[in-house]
Amino acid sequence: MLKAVINKIQLGYSDEGQGTPLVFLHAFPLSSLMWQPQVHVLKNSYRVITVDLRGHGESDSLLWNFTLDDYAKDVIGLLDHLNIAQAVFIGLSMGGYTLLSLYRNFPDRVKAMVLADTRAQADSQAGKTGRQAMTQLAYQEGASAIADVMLPKLLAPSTVQQRPDLVDQVRHMILHTSTEGIITDLMAMAARPDSTDLLSQITCPTLVIVGEDDLATPLAESQYMADRIPGSTLVTIPGAAHLSNFEQPAAFNQSLQNFLTTHKL
Ligand code: MLT
Repeated sequence: MLKAVINKIQLGYSDEGQGTPLVFLHAFPLSSLMWQPQVHVLKNSYRVITVDLRGHGESDSLLWNFTLDDYAKDVIGLLDHLNIAQAVFIGLSMGGYTLLSLYRNFPDRVKAMVLADTRAQADSQAGKTGRQAMTQLAYQEGASAIADVMLPKLLAPSTVQQRPDLVDQVRHMILHTSTEGIITDLMAMAARPDSTDLLSQITCPTLVIVGEDDLATPLAESQYMADRIPGSTLVTIPGAAHLSNFEQPAAFNQSLQNFLTTHKL
């Protein structure tokens, strides 16, 4: 893992391969390691960058009411550090919320984007109440209690039953996330603005991907985004729930590669 000081904090990131830069933004409460199945394949044809958002993986943790705009500024700060003017961004779930924030604030930096297993709407009141309960759980019982709640949301029941190796890897990523990082994410996600108005203003090539069995951000949310983003494409991944890139890497990678090739990226 490489390190750079961006916005006064140390961020962990990886940077492999050559060609068009692809920047991957991870989900809650994971880390850049969730993108290993993509890095492994795409680094042969592209410059592949993964980032540990603040509070995750190898990045510093600070407890404060940061926003997803702050996370997006960190990503842009890293691209400045690497002298990259424009990239293709791929964000899954919280990484997708961060990507929408990044597009709202820095549209010129986005060559194309992939919104995976995410949604444009802000949290509902019930969603915000759920974030408060999760914050208390993280504060009182730490990352392992959060792992117990999140694993059945991230992975399909069949994956949980038949792929103990994947379950272990996802649990490991969650256990490696600091309590400060988890709490900061929950507050930042609860405070994020609604991005539905942004969708019709997106002018870059956009791919929307969703696991067929995603219950956290169901197909209807992806369909909603794809219906409103001009010229976008929607791909559904069979046999995957929320963490579609990790559960069905071959199908996810194929969709990504088709998108990159179609748009000559
Ligand atoms: C994620 O996977 O990033 C989370 O499920 C997003 C959320 O809790 O809204």
